[in-house]
Amino acid sequence: MNTMPHVMNTAGRLPIALSHGRGCRVWDTNGREYLDALAGIAVNTLGHAHPRLTEALQDQVGKLIHSCNYYQVPLQEELAARLVDISGLTNAFFCNSGLEANEAALKIARKFGHDKGIASPEIIVFDKSFHGRSIATLSATGNSKVQKGFGPLLAGFVRAPLNDLDFIEQTARNNPNVVAVFLETIQGEGGINPARHTFLRDVRDLCNKNNWLLMLDEVQCGIGRTGKWFAHQWADIQPDVMPLAKGLGSGVPIGAVVCGPRAAHVFQPGDHGTTFGGNPLAMRAGVETLAIVETEQLLVNATRVGRLLKGGLMRELSQVEGVVEIRGEGLMLGIELDRPCTELLNRALEAGLLISVTANKVIRLLPPLIFTETDAEETLHILSPLVREFLSRKMN
Ligand SMILES: Cc1ncc(COP(=O)(O)O)c(C=O)c1O
Repeated sequence: MNTMPHVMNTAGRLPIALSHGRGCRVWDTNGREYLDALAGIAVNTLGHAHPRLTEALQDQVGKLIHSCNYYQVPLQEELAARLVDISGLTNAFFCNSGLEANEAALKIARKFGHDKGIASPEIIVFDKSFHGRSIATLSATGNSKVQKGFGPLLAGFVRAPLNDLDFIEQTARNNPNVVAVFLETIQGEGGINPARHTFLRDVRDLCNKNNWLLMLDEVQCGIGRTGKWFAHQWADIQPDVMPLAKGLGSGVPIGAVVCGPRAAHVFQPGDHGTTFGGNPLAMRAGVETLAIVETEQLLVNATRVGRLLKGGLMRELSQVEGVVEIRGEGLMLGIELDRPCTELLNRALEAGLLISVTANKVIRLLPPLIFTETDAEETLHILSPLVREFLSRKMN
């Protein structure tokens, strides 16, 4: 039953409403408890109602929520300095969401091209990618379902298969209008599909040789999710442009584009802007989130608990007929099945577990970075029999 008749119907919603949470637990409006292995789609980095974050946000709300970018915002500088520190890049721009961060990245790429005399700049993007739902970001996205009904799409994108270096090399030889390569370090919505480390390193080299920007969308896989601050750090490379959002504010809406020296000064005053972006409340959420991730050693935790969880999934499910692959890094894991499995969402809910299914056939786990070994064991204990039962029932 639709209990929200006045809200535009844009999401297939499950039949519960969450009322509050604590740590990795949430409760619905009927008082039922769930283990949260989704974190609001990789957003609630610190789980729910983290005492230090709560106190900081309450303090900030009592001081200043919004001031606007006519003025200096010292908390922007504080968060930018911290992002520069952990990324090795040089400057940040702040906005409010993932699509806005990607929109800014696309504008930077185009202006970078214009600045070097390319009148119709083109950007290489990838099959199965997801970059957002504005016209520009859905045009960059490699999923026709997201684009259907919203044409004409924006021109200026060259579409490539993920991990296919030959294709990118060929494009480099044949297309002088290319100015950037834009990809998710690990595709999230597309089904937890990692860009190979060798591919990332080779693309980095190609970008250097051709004077292209390497733009890594870390909206979903960034901010400690894979056990490093940023997923590309596993490949030992640096992007020129890195859009961030989701986990950066631990639940408070925020977006950021962090740039290295080749991209950081493309935007000049008046080229880009936002009313809400960089507001003191969101900035405080970002500063506190990064500080808490550091003091609570949540990168180490994401690696350790992620390995435990992935190991357990491999042990319990990899041999089961119908399980195609278990993949991902840290606390960004996917279990691909050989058939559509969205009905598992409801089944998991009934069993007290919040998960996601993406790309139709991939069960996705994105728990808070505070997830414990016990939480991982409980997830395995609930999920493994559900998947086994689902696959056996459907095959008979
Ligand atoms: C990799 C990636 N980029 C961009 C977006 C869009 O972010 P938002 O929903 O905040 O606009 C998402 C959202 O799922 C994402 O996963």
